[in-house]
Amino acid sequence: MAKDTVTIIDNSTGKELELPLRRGTIGPAAVDITSLYREFGYLTYDPGFMSTASCRSSITYVDGNEGVLLYRGYPIEQLAEHSHYIEVVYLLLYGELPNQQQLADFSDSIKAHTMINESLKSFYHGFHHDAHPMASLMGVVGSLSSFYPDAADIYDSQQREIAAHRIVAKIPTIAAASYKYSIGEPFVYPKNSLAYCANLLNMMLSVPSEDYEINPVAAKALDLIFMLHLDHEQNVSTSTVRLSGSTGTNPFACMATGISALWGPAHGGANEAVLTMLEEIGDVKNISKYIEKAKDKNDPFRLMGFGHRVYKNYDPRAKIIRKMCYEVLDKLGDSSDPMFELALKLEEVALNDDYFVSRKLYPNVDFYSGIIYRVLGIPTNMFTVMFAVARAPGWVAQWLEMITEPDQRIGRPRQVYEGAKPRDYLPLSKR
Ligand code: SDX
Repeated sequence: MAKDTVTIIDNSTGKELELPLRRGTIGPAAVDITSLYREFGYLTYDPGFMSTASCRSSITYVDGNEGVLLYRGYPIEQLAEHSHYIEVVYLLLYGELPNQQQLADFSDSIKAHTMINESLKSFYHGFHHDAHPMASLMGVVGSLSSFYPDAADIYDSQQREIAAHRIVAKIPTIAAASYKYSIGEPFVYPKNSLAYCANLLNMMLSVPSEDYEINPVAAKALDLIFMLHLDHEQNVSTSTVRLSGSTGTNPFACMATGISALWGPAHGGANEAVLTMLEEIGDVKNISKYIEKAKDKNDPFRLMGFGHRVYKNYDPRAKIIRKMCYEVLDKLGDSSDPMFELALKLEEVALNDDYFVSRKLYPNVDFYSGIIYRVLGIPTNMFTVMFAVARAPGWVAQWLEMITEPDQRIGRPRQVYEGAKPRDYLPLSKR
């Protein structure tokens, strides 16, 4: 029977090393190199981790070639059609879809923790009024560790669970407060009679002086967008949460590291950058100029919302959001929204250009999401905050999996050193 191993040969010494193959339930096998340095004295070199599996996980699976996304084995298309955000959060945290009682208990537990300590409100006043809401979100989420010191006991399963529920419950409240502070409006308390996403919209868009009616179309659209953003394997913000979590720090600090990593325009910041790009392009007649800029290696401009490290096919989430744009614009906005028309035309031109086709650059989750956020009345500088709110429970699920992993250990990558060889100190008089 063929052995499930690979053998590497060091041609400089003729030495051979047989390494086991580690196979998951689906997806590519991994060469287990844990013994490589010990046995062979060699490291592997893989900047950007293009070919590196950093962990084992049972939460999410992405097939980039086929454009497949599974949450605990369920295709995203089926969850998008039949489920809702809080149910999928339960699925990711506990591994199975909840029954009626489990869903009710989970939902009640989340509702019991939606408020934040009143003294936290003064934290926002330390930010300049025009601070980007991601800055205050990152700071306030990290500060939760000072309110719940017991969360530091990460090896206590009950402390882990209550911390997880607090993060899921409070991040919308903190995000909405970040927005309210940035526009000088009073904070709006959570209303637990509302569903999760409706509650967030109410905290962001209502004011104490007026009655505010949640539009069910808007609430459903946000719920769907949040489901699509919930988790995505070992993307850079999730990997940041895992790496910081591997030091044993508390979960609130880990979430703050995830928020900081997500902020970058190459990652979660892309949704905000897409709208800025569309506004800069301004008109269909300018598309070809910007397509050429995106292709020009001497121009730092990239087509934001296009391309993906893993998807070399259409991002299944982008497909769903693109379809949702038609429905939401039809019911809530202007079905001839110029930004949406421009995005559709830009996609059409790019997907007929060999530069993008040959590199398998397709629209990703961030390309169309901003179109919908705008129609919901959410300002551009809150787009990445929305991504962080939706992704936080995914980070929590990954953090929980990492902490309870039997062979969990601190993450500490190595390097290929190219610096100066050992040399002696030279006194100033001799330099
Ligand atoms: C997210 O990992 C995840 O799962 C992330 C995410 C999640 O749910 O967590 O899916 C969310 O972050 C989506 C990605 C959002 N970012 C953007 O939309 C920013 C624009 N995209 C690019 O910056 C880029 O595509 C990345 C960062 C997304 C991927 O970078 P890679 O995998 O390192 O790709 P690459 O830079 O190696 O690109 C390969 C080629 C290069 O050209 P050549 O050297 O082969 O000539 O494609 C080019 C790149 O220059 N290229 C682009 C491009 N993206 C890649 N050229 C123009 N415009 C682009 N957008």
